[in-house]
Amino acid sequence: MPPGTGQFVPTIVFLGGGRITSAIVAGLRVARSRQPVVVHDRNLSKLKRLHRQYDVVVEPNLEQAVRQADFLIVAVRPDSVPALLERLRGTLATRSQEKNVAPLIAISLAAGIPLARLRQMLNSQVLWARAMPSPICKNGTGLTALAWERELPRQQRHQVRSFFSQIGSVLDLPEIKFDAFTVTYSSSHGYHALATLADAAEQLGLDRKTAYMAASHALADGIVAWRSQKDSLDILLEEAATPGGIAETAMAAMNRSGYAKAVQTGLRAGLAAARANATPRGSSRRSPVTPKKKTGKRLRGAP
Ligand SMILES: NC(=O)c1ccc[n+]([C@@H]2O[C@H](COP(=O)([O-])OP(=O)(O)OC[C@H]3O[C@@H](n4cnc5c(N)ncnc54)[C@H](OP(=O)(O)O)[C@@H]3O)[C@@H](O)[C@H]2O)c1
Repeated sequence: MPPGTGQFVPTIVFLGGGRITSAIVAGLRVARSRQPVVVHDRNLSKLKRLHRQYDVVVEPNLEQAVRQADFLIVAVRPDSVPALLERLRGTLATRSQEKNVAPLIAISLAAGIPLARLRQMLNSQVLWARAMPSPICKNGTGLTALAWERELPRQQRHQVRSFFSQIGSVLDLPEIKFDAFTVTYSSSHGYHALATLADAAEQLGLDRKTAYMAASHALADGIVAWRSQKDSLDILLEEAATPGGIAETAMAAMNRSGYAKAVQTGLRAGLAAARANATPRGSSRRSPVTPKKKTGKRLRGAP
């Protein structure tokens, strides 16, 4: 309980101190959050960096980290989840022997791993939720989808929502829609579209700086306008493209070249990659959804 508030604020312990944990912790700093946060990771260098950058409490010992937790956030890549939960099982058994404690709330960020499988891997001393936060939460303007195990009490759901709402919008989503959301909501789409539009503009002769300025205004300003007013997308499209004019000609040519199909194909491939995380496999295989190494300069940071 933070001093003077009279309100219980759960201590959040992150297991995994990589990209999404860094983004969330950065967002909490932007929000001037007083939420107690501890980060555990197997890489001391990452813990040191997080401590240096965000003044966050770090704990290299898993057992000591879990001891401090009201909520655990599982923030390792999907292929690292089974080994982590295996280690957690022993740690939680010790915790429950020590004192008669309530089950921990464990929130998995792992793309594609369903609640049922999480429960199979760790079925005692925890109640599970899933969260899909966006790295944009580092600015406090993210979007997080949440799904719950049925047994998870309302009060704890409220506390989890309150935690993520410090770093952006929050929505409850039936778990069956989680993978489709995961592949659709990624900020990588914006960066990808920006890079594609700017590259095409450079090919027309714009210098790089002007190409990126023009492309970023084209994408961001229209979308911000759509979100902030009541007009439908059809009306805004009509307003932005004179019939028979340049914008309409460009859009029609893009559509004829398979623009919609390319997007559908991309989403289907992403969905298949998310679903592949649902089934057990050897721990040596890397997740297709969050590759550890850069696969392309412009597409990092997606779940
Ligand atoms: N990045 C995003 O934008 C995003 C958004 C939503 C959800 N997610 C989900 O969040 C999870 C983490 O993604 P990420 O991009 O943050 O991955 P990441 O940058 O690779 O971070 C994961 C961290 O966890 C560490 N780790 C792995 N196994 C561990 C263990 N047993 N004990 C302690 N630390 C361990 C990793 O260490 P090593 O490097 O040594 O393996 C790494 O430092 C994924 O499941 C992903 O699906 C990510």
